[in-house]
Amino acid sequence: MGRLSIAVIFGGQSSEHEISCISVQTVAKAIRQDTYDITYIGITKEGRWLLADSLSSISDGSWRESEVSAVLSPDASKKEIIIFENGKITTKKIDVVFPVLHGMYGEDGTIQGLFEMAQIPYVGCGVLASAAGMDKVYTKIIVEDLGIRQAEYVLVRAKDVMAGKLEEQAERVEAKLNYPVFIKPSKAGSSQGVSKAHDRAELIEGLKLAAGHDTKILVERNIVGREIECAVLGSAEAVEASGVGEILAAAEFYDFDAKYTNAESRTVISPELPEGKTEEIRSAAKRIFTALDGYGLSRVDFFLEKDTNQVVFNEINTMPGFTSISMYPMLWQAEGMDIEQLVEKQIQLALQRMQGGKA
Ligand SMILES: Nc1ncnc2c1ncn2[C@@H]1O[C@H](COP(=O)(O)OP(=O)(O)O)[C@@H](O)[C@H]1O
Ligand SMILES: [Mg+2]
Repeated sequence: MGRLSIAVIFGGQSSEHEISCISVQTVAKAIRQDTYDITYIGITKEGRWLLADSLSSISDGSWRESEVSAVLSPDASKKEIIIFENGKITTKKIDVVFPVLHGMYGEDGTIQGLFEMAQIPYVGCGVLASAAGMDKVYTKIIVEDLGIRQAEYVLVRAKDVMAGKLEEQAERVEAKLNYPVFIKPSKAGSSQGVSKAHDRAELIEGLKLAAGHDTKILVERNIVGREIECAVLGSAEAVEASGVGEILAAAEFYDFDAKYTNAESRTVISPELPEGKTEEIRSAAKRIFTALDGYGLSRVDFFLEKDTNQVVFNEINTMPGFTSISMYPMLWQAEGMDIEQLVEKQIQLALQRMQGGKA
């Protein structure tokens, strides 16, 4: 048998475009060249699909000037990409797709819908889990049902913010929560549009900021505690959870800068936690992944509240970061699974899902 043809899709239209361009390099280097014939497709911020000829064109960013476009055909009888070069059209068969995309149009079920239409196996969560995991309000509704603790919140509609009903919304928030509060667009990613407010003036500023990112805004109780994350892998039949890791943010909270540019932010694998807490978090992570209909991979994030020692669920990321400082691959590394094995495992899970019928 020849090598399997894999399409690695990266970039994307979200605010996490740049993170994806870094994640993809880690993933691509880990794909076995003797087993797979790799095609790189980069999606620009404007949504153009371009063929990237090499990994080096991704690392230096020159793929954005590619003259060759390549799109995935939704035609399930074809299972191919269509390549347009100098007015000429060619096609290439694709056996499996690895979408290394974070955020909107990548991690939210939209591109997963295209893979389903095309009936091409793909790495990661399906349409529903991706969409529900991307939308923090819907994640909360699903997790609520499991009886796992989460931060109390008030839902604010961006349309009310735009219409200038700011005092009214602030009163709704204040009736339920004390300052400080966290303000987040429901479909936030990489902390974009997220802020912390210590008084009404900051709350109003935060609502205006978040309203620019999404139609729904969550205002949450501030959870004072440690930030603990757990990696999950597998399918509904067999879900595995890694050990846990801790985020030590070099800022008041884990904002975009603290995540990606501030060298003072640290991650600790297997931190010292009170008795039983690691197990509780691992078990909650698996239950949440399963309740969301997760498949392949997810990183599930929690707080360990300081005063109560309670585990509080924060959010799930269905396509976690794969940069050199990312928690997801590090957590599996600590379990003895290196990045090559992890990537191969994900591709195998993708292939199995389609063999076993629909996801
Ligand atoms: N309710 C909260 N209490 C305390 N800190 C919070 C709360 N919500 C978010 N944060 C802080 O903000 C960061 C980003 O929020 P998060 O919900 O993880 O959104 P994103 O999807 O952008 O990562 C978290 O890592 C944490 O540091
Ligand atoms: Mg987060």
